[in-house]
Amino acid sequence: MLDFKKEVVNLVSQVVEGLDHEEIESLIEIPPNYNMGDYAFPCFKLAKIYRKAPNLIAEDLVNKIDGGDNFERIENVGPYINFFINKAKLTEVVLKAIAEEGNRYGSINVGKGRTAIVEFSSPNIAKPFHIGHIRTTVIGNSIEKIFKFQGYNTVRINHLGDYGTQFGMLIAAYKKWGDAEVIEKDPINELLKLYVKFNAEAEKDENLKEEARYWFKELEDGNEEALELWQWIRDISLKEFNKVYKLLNIEFDSYAGESFYSDKMDRVIRELEEKNLLQDSKGAKIVDLEPYGMPPALIKKSDGSTLYITRDIAAAIYRKEHYDFYKNIYVVASQQNLHFKQLIKIIDLMGYDWAYDCVHIPFGMVSLEDGTLSTRQGRVVFLEDVLNKAIESTLKIIEERNPDLENKEEVAKQVGVGAVIFQELFNNRIKDYVFSWERTLSFEGETGPYVQYTHARANSLLEKGDFNLGDEIDFSLLKEEDEINLVRLLYNFPSAVLDALEKYEPSFITRYVVEVAKAFNKFYNSCPILNEEEELKKARLNLVYATKTVIKTALYLLGIEAPNKM
Ligand code: ARG
Repeated sequence: MLDFKKEVVNLVSQVVEGLDHEEIESLIEIPPNYNMGDYAFPCFKLAKIYRKAPNLIAEDLVNKIDGGDNFERIENVGPYINFFINKAKLTEVVLKAIAEEGNRYGSINVGKGRTAIVEFSSPNIAKPFHIGHIRTTVIGNSIEKIFKFQGYNTVRINHLGDYGTQFGMLIAAYKKWGDAEVIEKDPINELLKLYVKFNAEAEKDENLKEEARYWFKELEDGNEEALELWQWIRDISLKEFNKVYKLLNIEFDSYAGESFYSDKMDRVIRELEEKNLLQDSKGAKIVDLEPYGMPPALIKKSDGSTLYITRDIAAAIYRKEHYDFYKNIYVVASQQNLHFKQLIKIIDLMGYDWAYDCVHIPFGMVSLEDGTLSTRQGRVVFLEDVLNKAIESTLKIIEERNPDLENKEEVAKQVGVGAVIFQELFNNRIKDYVFSWERTLSFEGETGPYVQYTHARANSLLEKGDFNLGDEIDFSLLKEEDEINLVRLLYNFPSAVLDALEKYEPSFITRYVVEVAKAFNKFYNSCPILNEEEELKKARLNLVYATKTVIKTALYLLGIEAPNKM
């Protein structure tokens, strides 16, 4: 697609001396509103080179620039040269690009030939999958889709917390109070009960903590009973998690979690030793990170058992050797900032030049309206319940508004789940937020259902208007302000996607698509379509088609479906 900003750079570079393309590009501004131009080039920097006042330079240069048919006007105001895009040209360029590229419109394939690992979700098996996990799951899913859309070869990894001392705890608790039959019936709740009870009792009885440690050590050493119990707990938990993933329409390429690395730990310890990075500390092994302003990383306990970070070192090395990643992305809560700083520093100290290709993408906390989330006290909102409640309320709304809709259940699922995902991805990921049923289930304002509804409305216009993509269009007929504003937004889609990728920030797309939906509805209200004379009707339908395509792709990148009717 023609890049108007690059065109401005070209035009300026033809008449300016002393600045290269890159410098010119970095100087170009977007004026606060379109009446002042689409792009502006300020001449302050040239004052030194030309030894002249900036406004005189601008006055002089503007006469030398010929915008051809890409720009309808080029004017100087004070020290600025303002460029006004030729609107008919813009409309043609954008609508043709969307018609040609279809659901690939928005991608510039920056990742071609590169592999990006996106690790996300990664719940702990001994603990329930609660609303706090929705963030990593939904943010990670979207980041992966954005990378893939941009041409990366991606690997979706669920680094399950299926190892560690909490397993010792669960095994010990099960052996004391557990009943297999009861657990099989309602695995997560029953395991949670055991977990909560064990924690409460362990507060009073130090011996229990010792027992938990013992069982984890047995597990690491390959004790058959421990292994069997561990496998069983892992299996029944994963089955429960998969229900949630299914609702969210999420799959993983790999479930290699912490336990996957249990036989890869010796190598890590050996390597750290050979590289003189390990130190003894009261019988335990640590990596001293004091010179880098961080507390030491505990690698191996005095009883010989390994830790979370040890498994993460093994995982990073394995991933590099196995996938040869260009980026290894960890979508994990900001509470683990220090952990990932330590991890990446240790990999760096080990001499791996890819250490900083590992990136931690943190996000803020979720809390309940009446306090914090805490697994330990068993106060959790289960994600599955949240999603099911959202689907149920959506179904009720559909029954009221559109009782004859086909596939009501399927649509209710797409919209209910979409509502939860959309609100989750609406704010910058790093912001803490308070989970609210009311906001999640609201269908008004800047919400997923509003955007989905706009998409369905566009679709029904195309059906009613017998839209045909192959029709010859006179793009110059689209000149109303609401039309041009919509076209401009559609033109910006590729850069919104690129920004989202570079900043690992799905909310750029969420915000963007809300703007598109608003602009579309404004256009829809001010510009008649189906009753217009043929040529204008065709041109407008083409704009409707382009909008529908972009909304659908944007929602797809967020992990949200776009039903054609709702
Ligand atoms: N299981 C951990 C948790 O729920 C998250 C794992 C993050 N990933 C990692 N490679 N350390 O807190």
